[in-house]
Amino acid sequence: MILYQDRFMERDELHIDVEDRGYQFGDGVYEVIRIYNGVPFLMTEHLERLERSAKAIKMSLPYSLHELDLKLKELVSNNQLIDGIIYLQITRGVAPRIHQFPQGIEPVLTAYVRELPRPLAQMANGGKAILVEDIRWLRCDIKSLNLLPNVLAKQEAVEAKAIEAIQHRNGTITEGSASNVFIVKKGTIYTHPANHYILNGITRQFVFQLAGELGLPIAEKAYTKEELLTADEIFFTSTTAEVSPIVTVDDQIIGNGKPGPVTIQLQKIYDRYVADLSLEKH
Ligand code: PDD
Repeated sequence: MILYQDRFMERDELHIDVEDRGYQFGDGVYEVIRIYNGVPFLMTEHLERLERSAKAIKMSLPYSLHELDLKLKELVSNNQLIDGIIYLQITRGVAPRIHQFPQGIEPVLTAYVRELPRPLAQMANGGKAILVEDIRWLRCDIKSLNLLPNVLAKQEAVEAKAIEAIQHRNGTITEGSASNVFIVKKGTIYTHPANHYILNGITRQFVFQLAGELGLPIAEKAYTKEELLTADEIFFTSTTAEVSPIVTVDDQIIGNGKPGPVTIQLQKIYDRYVADLSLEKH
């Protein structure tokens, strides 16, 4: 069962118009929210970011965050989802194709769930990343539907047998194709500041909280390709990847080629939050 506006229906009953602006222009915003043991993780943070993304493209949400929260929880329980994700998107709506905002149209909301196990092997062993040029626009802080550069970057990674593409702008690391990237150098964690060049990941913000709880130094400071390649540890974060280590970049081995101690500490405390969340339900 999927959610269309505020109604539940079967997926094959849904009609998306050929002139939906999300379909034609990528004119809309989205979120991916993790479900652990039937419970949404960091839902409020995701919904607040959705509201900010919508505002940034001059669109207002068709429902309050409270209404959305309730509907999405209903979507999860209707589908008896245990471990997976909610994908939620809102487009500007349907109108004869013109570039500027059409007058008097309503946003179109769709959401569905998908089962998705935690990437345990990737988190335990890490993987390879490749470096690619960041060819995106200058409002990467907006979680918009326009993901073609991200798609191209990830495809390049997959063709190189890598798990993520790490993007750089003129030699400064920004973020992954669908993740935020962190390095550890002499015990301090560094990641690109949350400005227009990156998406301020919900998992990224959670890692700041976790590092604080662990007493690990963490700084929002941009770093270069060279600093990445000579880092002691590299990891990337996202709703689906959680905290995943990178042990090779292009053909350069990072640290001793294994997930590092800071990465492992963060993974362990993350795990505790996931376990506590599962208890919450009972
Ligand atoms: N992507 N940066 C980019 C470009 C992303 O697409 C994502 C997430 C992140 C991490 O954000 P968060 O921690 O809030 O998931 C950073 C989602 C998962 C996706 O498009 O599938």
